[in-house]
Amino acid sequence: MDEKKVMLSGIQPSGDLHLGNYLGAIKNWVERTEEFDNYYFMADMHTITVRQTPADLRRRSLEQLALYIACGLDPEKNTLFIQSHVPQHAELGWVLQCYTMFGELSRMTQFKDKSAKHQDNINAGLFAYPSLMAADILLYQPDFIPVGEDQKQHCELTRDIAQRFNHVYGDVFKIPEPYIPKTGARVMSLNAPDSKMSKSIPEGCIFMMEKPEDIQRKFKRAITDSDTENCVRFDPANKPGVANLMSIYSAITGKSYAEIESEFAGCGYGKFKPAVGDAVVECLRPIREEATRILADKAYLESVYKTGAEKASYVATKTLRKVYKKIGFVAR
Ligand code: TYM
Repeated sequence: MDEKKVMLSGIQPSGDLHLGNYLGAIKNWVERTEEFDNYYFMADMHTITVRQTPADLRRRSLEQLALYIACGLDPEKNTLFIQSHVPQHAELGWVLQCYTMFGELSRMTQFKDKSAKHQDNINAGLFAYPSLMAADILLYQPDFIPVGEDQKQHCELTRDIAQRFNHVYGDVFKIPEPYIPKTGARVMSLNAPDSKMSKSIPEGCIFMMEKPEDIQRKFKRAITDSDTENCVRFDPANKPGVANLMSIYSAITGKSYAEIESEFAGCGYGKFKPAVGDAVVECLRPIREEATRILADKAYLESVYKTGAEKASYVATKTLRKVYKKIGFVAR
């Protein structure tokens, strides 16, 4: 009997994967792969809450899968799948919308941000998105949801929805916990350290498939601070740019902030910034090379996502059946 605990997470293929996705989420998935029974997916259904170019969405979904594998997620040990290939997500998503309150959805930070950004397209899907995310999660009865800091609110809402449902129908869903890394949980933009690193500010964002020289250029131009101290010291309130670079360096090398401060004592930012750039380049190089190799093998990728969807669907169906029975739907 497999007694392993379950981990599950997903990323939207709405943009190319970046260092925030890697340090906030994927790195944690890879590190715990042996310990858990793992489900990781491309959240393509979530991306259409914002308009997408179809060809780009398809390309990015496959590139994301190749990157998952290249980062170290062995398809034999991890169920890797595309969300839209497992229709139970949409089915449970609808059910859970009926157990999610309007007020709760109105309070979601991601909804507020995205509706401000896309004022011409504040659609019902964008609003109800967290109910679909709750379905993504609860279908697999996971113990942990490894995500970056910005997804904590959605994970908490998932717990509330699950508890509300269980309160009415008995113990249907396991109540999962977000699992957030100690460093790298909120990687900030390199050129605007008060904003989260994201594809919407490309100059401040390091993409996982980006060329080493472009990565280095972005690190050399990274904003440090406006004082004249020129000293590598961890002080997020007064030196957010330096603190961000230190947290990236720490997440990649495993060094503590004190160790980083002494490593760069007396060096100034001129040496520190390219050193962080080098660490990132060397961390991403083998991943990029392996992803490029895997991407060329379309048949392999197809076999991975098809097997993944079958395995995921098997588990998801069990949960959905239980839910349908509890709420009173006639069995098929
Ligand atoms: P998404 O696609 O925006 O981001 C994917 C993961 O990357 C993390 N992340 C970051 N971590 C640190 N610093 C950053 N700058 C940064 N930017 C992104 C996110 O926290 C996330 O872990 N709703 C989710 C996708 C999703 C999901 C799910 C996640 C759909 N269903 C079920 C978990 C479980 C989202 O939009 O993440």
